[in-house]
Amino acid sequence: MEIRITKTTSPKQKPAKGEALGFGHIFTDHMFVMNYTEGKGWHDARIVPYGNISISPSAMVFHYGQEMFEGLKAYRDSKDNVYLFRPDMNAKRTNSTNKRLCIPQLPEEMFVEAVKAVVDIDRDWVPTDSGTSLYIRPFIIATDEFLGVAPSKTYLFMIILSPSGAYYESGLEPVGIWIEDEFVRAVKGGMGFAKTGGNYAASLIAQVKAHDSGYSQVLWLDGVERKYIEEVGAMNIFFKIAGKVVTPMLNGSILPGITRDSIIKVCKSWGYEVEERRISVDELVEAAQNGTLEEVFGTGTAAVVSPVNKLRYEDDVMNIGDGSIGELTQKLYDELTGIQWGEKEDPYGWRVTV
Ligand code: PLP
Ligand code: COI
Repeated sequence: MEIRITKTTSPKQKPAKGEALGFGHIFTDHMFVMNYTEGKGWHDARIVPYGNISISPSAMVFHYGQEMFEGLKAYRDSKDNVYLFRPDMNAKRTNSTNKRLCIPQLPEEMFVEAVKAVVDIDRDWVPTDSGTSLYIRPFIIATDEFLGVAPSKTYLFMIILSPSGAYYESGLEPVGIWIEDEFVRAVKGGMGFAKTGGNYAASLIAQVKAHDSGYSQVLWLDGVERKYIEEVGAMNIFFKIAGKVVTPMLNGSILPGITRDSIIKVCKSWGYEVEERRISVDELVEAAQNGTLEEVFGTGTAAVVSPVNKLRYEDDVMNIGDGSIGELTQKLYDELTGIQWGEKEDPYGWRVTV
């Protein structure tokens, strides 16, 4: 793919070493842009200075939400190598989302090449402090100027970059999670497995409710019986119950997390029995009561491995362990981040050098 490059003439000030980055507030000097036109395919790949774009108020994305996004990170090791983590998986998930949203397929190698090219231009923005990385946000929006409900014939694919620290303000501190029993996020046949804005718009009301009640995240139940555990707002969920690692199976209504897949592989390689299956909220309440609910953690690109110490469901508040980070949770965090930051062996070949 030919990528036209226009470098900025006024580079921004980069965050200072040691400066708290937060998540998703700061953007780098450049961005990747490419167009799609029916009949012509994807064309005009370019890297340009980061900045506002001009699009029509009638662009379809504003009206019916035909859009998708991805999330991955670039990590810097102590020798200044820059790595991506399993970008081929994000490329594959892009196309599974695109298919559901009637957005044209994007060749996987084009996706990975575009990510590598824009990260390479802004590689000095990959932060060095421990626990920090460059969050990469690829996204596609429908740009036809039309108010009828139909798939657009033109699209814009963009990639923006944001040096970031921990997703949750609490960092690796365990968080309390609200099991939502009123609103649902997705149903089978809907778009739960796809990474598209509408799923997140639908989640906001419950997130506000959970925050107002002192919980930092929402854990969704299935949309039909409101009985089975699905996933958290921005992460998949894992339980350690009586020594086994248990996580909801991929059923079409939860996001097939790349971190989830990686954690399952690591747990299996360590000899843990891993069950991907339906988990009812009643089973969790019972396990909490009889003392077999040993650990709970979420997994995601932004959230990494995030310990949970409290689950609220209706009138029950389940306290997990002694409230501190579980042993397996900590070990998984260390293993995964060790691989991502180039500090540990990468037996799975997950790191991709930029
Ligand atoms: N579930 C939801 C709803 C998410 O937004 C995310 C974040 O991307 C995940 C799960 C975890 O997916 P991944 O591990 O691929 O980042
Ligand atoms: C990610 O982990 O990459 C995500 O996309 C989560 C996001 C909703 C902040």
